[in-house]
Amino acid sequence: MKILVVGGGGREHAIIQKLRENPAVTELYAAPGNGGIAYDATCVDIAATDLDGIVEFAKNTGIDYAVVAPDDPLVLGLVDRLAEAGIPAFGPSKDAAIIEGSKIFSKQLMKKYGIPTARYDVFDSLLRAAKFIQSHNHYPLVVKADGLALGKGVIICENEAEALRAVKEMIEDKRFGASGSRVVIEEFLTGPEVSVLAFTDGKVIRPMVSSMDHKRALDGDRGLNTGGMGTVAPNPYYTPEIAERCMQEIFLPTMRAMNEEGRTFKGCLYFGLMLTPDGPKVIEYNCRFGDPETQVVLPLLKTDLLEVMQATTNGTLADLPVEFSDGAAACVILASGGYPEAYEKGKQIEGLVNGRAQDSSVMVYHAGTKADGNGGLVTSGGRVLGVTATADTLERALEHAYAAAGTIRFEGVHMRRDIGKRALAAIQGE
Ligand code: AMP
Ligand code: GLY
Repeated sequence: MKILVVGGGGREHAIIQKLRENPAVTELYAAPGNGGIAYDATCVDIAATDLDGIVEFAKNTGIDYAVVAPDDPLVLGLVDRLAEAGIPAFGPSKDAAIIEGSKIFSKQLMKKYGIPTARYDVFDSLLRAAKFIQSHNHYPLVVKADGLALGKGVIICENEAEALRAVKEMIEDKRFGASGSRVVIEEFLTGPEVSVLAFTDGKVIRPMVSSMDHKRALDGDRGLNTGGMGTVAPNPYYTPEIAERCMQEIFLPTMRAMNEEGRTFKGCLYFGLMLTPDGPKVIEYNCRFGDPETQVVLPLLKTDLLEVMQATTNGTLADLPVEFSDGAAACVILASGGYPEAYEKGKQIEGLVNGRAQDSSVMVYHAGTKADGNGGLVTSGGRVLGVTATADTLERALEHAYAAAGTIRFEGVHMRRDIGKRALAAIQGE
């Protein structure tokens, strides 16, 4: 089989390494991929958002199955375009991807179907948003751009001045372009955060092992929000009781709501949850695998990934048990110094052999690397590598991941030293 994976980050690298385990996969392509993915797949220089280019390439190459991993091509309708060309693909249709593409859509969906989430209001006028903020006296308050904003469209405002600035930047200054012309203002929720990715074909929903992201740049959850500095799985706060409650109150109702709306979701539905004192609530939906959640979830998947993906596309997921191993996984991100603000690229990466760690039990997922032309790799992005280890306990997975991360070097490298610390404390506190 010829498989195409659309995207070029650590998440895509983890998907590609897992797909390679299926012996029927004879040719793997990545568009655009990256320097490290090139060790595992043929990279073709087509941007993930170049829908025409990708459909053309897939047709000409005779791709049998495509996996569309990032949010923007899904929201633009790449899965529909591939299907029209006769190429089955993993991921939701454009109609269903709106669950991530529009926060207003997702908030209205949850309200209509009684799915627990933060209370909210929607504004498209700066004047009305400002009036609402001025009459409000509970802080923090959360301001969100309606559309995709590279993960930066959520602002937690500590006071009235910050909230007024956030809505002005979105609605009037167009900081996020059209994505911010409408905003959601919502109640601030507290509690441990849990990420749950789930396969669904619109008939059944199969949650994967839970995980915990670490979004802030610095230890102790300080510093700016990033795309994610590390992850662990499973998430110890997500007990079997909470999982059952989420299935009944959130996962099944969401799948059914999308069917009811004529927007059947097929693919990976990501639930960003907060375990509040009032029970689990949805912080956000994503229409795709999370990054870097995928880097700890897929290594624990025992069932063949290609088979599960095809079952979601074909509507036969009910026939396939999706199983995970009992162990734990940890992923530590090595980032460029300065990220998520300005950083330099082109730094020589040392300590890898053909893109891999010296310890062959550790996975190195490449996010921002590029071939240097001499058989080596240089940095080419903010998040550079995701070093992942699995073990029977989280403590050991973290030990392995950190030991391997310490053997990889490039100028200015930055990693958090406390990935999994809170999860370990929660496990020990039990
Ligand atoms: P997002 O960019 O949508 O992943 O959101 C970034 C982060 O903002 C989330 O991971 C949460 O930590 C936080 N967040 C979003 N909405 C809320 C909320 N209503 N209450 C508290 N924190 C929130
Ligand atoms: N790690 C969060 C996301 O993929 O959106």
